[in-house]
Amino acid sequence: MLPVKKKLYIRTFGCQMNVADSQQMAQLLAHEYELTSRAEDADLYLINTCAIRRKAEEKVKSLLGSLKLLKARNPRLILGVGGCVAQQEGERLLAAAPHLNLVFGTQGSHRLPELVRLAARGRRLVDVELKRGIRELPPRQWPQGAVSALVTIMQGCDNFCTYCVVPYVRGREASREPGAVIAEIADFLAAGGVEVTLLGQNVNSYGRGLAQPITFTGLLRRLAGLPRLKRLRFATSHPRDLSDELVAAYGELPALCEHLHLPVQSGSNRVLKAMNRGYSREDYLEKVSRLRRSCPDIAISTDLIVGFPGETEADFTQTLDLMREAAFDQAFSFKYSRRPQTRAAGFPDQVPEEVKTERLIRLQALQDELTLATHSRQVGRVTEVLVEGWSKRGPSQLCGRLRTNQVVNFTGPRELLGCLTPITITAAQPHSLQGSWAPAPPVTVGGCPKHPPRRQHV
Ligand code: 5AD
Ligand code: SF4
Repeated sequence: MLPVKKKLYIRTFGCQMNVADSQQMAQLLAHEYELTSRAEDADLYLINTCAIRRKAEEKVKSLLGSLKLLKARNPRLILGVGGCVAQQEGERLLAAAPHLNLVFGTQGSHRLPELVRLAARGRRLVDVELKRGIRELPPRQWPQGAVSALVTIMQGCDNFCTYCVVPYVRGREASREPGAVIAEIADFLAAGGVEVTLLGQNVNSYGRGLAQPITFTGLLRRLAGLPRLKRLRFATSHPRDLSDELVAAYGELPALCEHLHLPVQSGSNRVLKAMNRGYSREDYLEKVSRLRRSCPDIAISTDLIVGFPGETEADFTQTLDLMREAAFDQAFSFKYSRRPQTRAAGFPDQVPEEVKTERLIRLQALQDELTLATHSRQVGRVTEVLVEGWSKRGPSQLCGRLRTNQVVNFTGPRELLGCLTPITITAAQPHSLQGSWAPAPPVTVGGCPKHPPRRQHV
């Protein structure tokens, strides 16, 4: 009989990169722990944290407080905090939470099994060492039936945007060897996967510093040639480093999805300069029009910050104008949040909270209009959806994503889960699309000798 494994619960905050890191943590601990979705069953409870805005950090601290009760019910529970807040706070977290066993930083995953073993023997530990370079973790074990994969290709960031805590908590930029990335993705495709999202804080600078340098587009070209790969995505791009070569690739590589997340942050040159972004609004808009020429169907999403120190009403109006001109499909927008160690935290003219709130509301109202307009243009089209799961909208409603990253809900059979299938877009809503699915003769793709083939409806 196989030994019974202990239970691991992971609560992940923040971005896709944290989701990928949590998957790696689960795999590193898999010889002793299996994942549970019930926190109350956990023998090991890990919180993978995000420090990008103060609110995210506060959520972690309040969750940590509420876990005193769980620990009181199960004193053998090992409680660990990892990721960016752990990196930033280190010893202070352990001192503030006597029920916490373990604090590990953004580069501490590979030591996790050892740290957990020590914690199980009663030690309280902090491991927040940041080193240059990148450490290859053991090859990923892809779960049976996984369709989409998040693959980290680099870590850290050297850009030091003046508002951003990432370079301090994730360290300096370092890229994985292309051979390791390609092998990981080839394994995933051999196990039946179809969609890959490459992750890094600034993927456009991928390859710098490698013994045999390669550009990010060079990596995309090598990946796009892998036979079973249907959808290739990546995040996040820095507008300054978006090369002509990458713009051209959108017109050339069939697997590359017609979507780009290109954070602009502000439409005011004065603010962009104070943010240390390294481009102007004119540079940004020029890149947007080149992208649209190279790939007319491309959907562009962005990140925006309102209320950066010194932002005036005129600066903010320029952001609204840029949004209209760029015709963003989607925007993630945030009130500026003062972060420790960052230069902007010490800037004069911090914008009052109520002004930030009022600007955020206006900006989001505009984005809702822009999103609805791009969604409306999809109505009547027949396009491809990757079916990801059940929709929250009701029974027998499935949901999935178009190549342009828009979410579509539709009625269809459960056999479609994990499949690519054509769909007719019937209605546009501000945050999603409605579709209509009709059966088409299935063809078989994917699968390997070890795994049964997947039915694909395209
Ligand atoms: N305040 C508000 N938003 C921030 N972001 C990063 N740092 C801050 C901050 N201090 C936003 C940026 C970035 C996204 C991931 O988070 O828009 O692109
Ligand atoms: Fe932060 Fe700027 Fe690096 Fe993005 S590019 S992670 S915003 S410092």
